[in-house]
Amino acid sequence: MNNFTFYSPTYFVFGKGTENTAGQCVKRFGGSKVLIHYGGGSVVRSGLLDRVKASLIKEDISFIELGGVKPNPRSGLVYQGIDLCKNEGVDFILAVGGGSTIDSAKAIAAGVKYDGDFWDFYEGKPIEAALPVGTILTIAAAGSEGSGDSVITKEEGMLKRGAGGEALRPVFSILNPELTQTLPAYQTAAGAADIMAHVFERYFTNTEEVEITDRLCEAVLLTMIKEVPRVIADPNNYEARANIMWAGMVAHNNLVGVGREQDWASHGIEHELSALYDVAHGAGLAVIFPAWMTYVYKHNINRFAQIATRVWGCQMNFENPEVTALEGIDRLKKFFTSIGMPISFKELGAKEEDIPAMVEKIGLGQGGTMGGFVKLNSKDVEQIYRLAL
Ligand code: NZQ
Ligand code: ZN
Repeated sequence: MNNFTFYSPTYFVFGKGTENTAGQCVKRFGGSKVLIHYGGGSVVRSGLLDRVKASLIKEDISFIELGGVKPNPRSGLVYQGIDLCKNEGVDFILAVGGGSTIDSAKAIAAGVKYDGDFWDFYEGKPIEAALPVGTILTIAAAGSEGSGDSVITKEEGMLKRGAGGEALRPVFSILNPELTQTLPAYQTAAGAADIMAHVFERYFTNTEEVEITDRLCEAVLLTMIKEVPRVIADPNNYEARANIMWAGMVAHNNLVGVGREQDWASHGIEHELSALYDVAHGAGLAVIFPAWMTYVYKHNINRFAQIATRVWGCQMNFENPEVTALEGIDRLKKFFTSIGMPISFKELGAKEEDIPAMVEKIGLGQGGTMGGFVKLNSKDVEQIYRLAL
């Protein structure tokens, strides 16, 4: 196991009706003038936004609003949010929605504390400071409610890039599984694919003797395999929603990833898909991950056989572990299909002729590589896109 530090200071409030504590939570973390940030309107239609406002009013906290965050959030609204916060003296940002809203809130939070262009952070500049961000999560997916990451798309050139830093970890996150019951089945499934992908990015490692994190990863995956079909069959199944919601947090606050080298190539490869076609990030991952696995499994057949037996319940073929490894990948594809996720370019609506442009945009150039488990160059990335056709 590698040395590591782990600091995950988010205060979580989980369960039914917890959105009504938003005002108390903001107060607890020192907010006095709040920007409520939200998406395309689901929180308005569900009545959640009104409940959140009532909770702030009850605590005498003043607020302004900025809605309109799109899935795969854009830089334009971030600039607008930064100006608004600076002009209005906002000292706290409350994100009400999914990963896109939370990521947009984080970008605004960092931008307010910086005199330059916030996009600098998405080109690698370290984030030193940010306004405090609180979240009220409405979809189990990105894990942004417990992570120090934010992913934004720059409209100019449709560049989708991530930034990270401890200053971006939400100070509190309110997780009420009931709020996810209004999600369309496709969004629920895309969220589930993203959660599983966050585990895969960590599971496929070259670091040896990481049994504790292997087992934690497997626990999250086993939970998803059990619970996701239950919510697809019955969207109002609170207990299944609750397990998935917490799994989404556990999968991405890095508890299951410490002490080991991680991969993250599939996320980079997927980001070009969601940037170009504006598809749900989780749906893009359902297409890319099986292709990536098929391309790299020979690098460590035993690790692929391990996940196949421990997670997918495959019988170990001791004479030929490769058969077991491939069976595991096949089980994953079947699982994605069973929950309504695409597993090919065709099903996603992506086009073969766009592959060279996507490879180019990843920007590995001549000598560059991506990924920790297997270092991929531009040619490898192109092969993975082609395997996903
Ligand atoms: O915008 P509204 O109207 O709210 O509708 C949203 C949106 O259309 C809808 N939705 C959310 N909660 C709902 C609901 N509809 C009905 N009822 C509800 N309760 O769902 C749609 C998707 O929302 P979005 O926020 O985009 O979903 P998600 O949480 O999957 O976030 C995706 C973004 O997160 C990034 C992705 O790249 C993508 O841009 N990621 C962020 C990460 C992070 N910050 O740590 C890590 C991830 O790997 C990921 O890259
Ligand atoms: Zn993701």
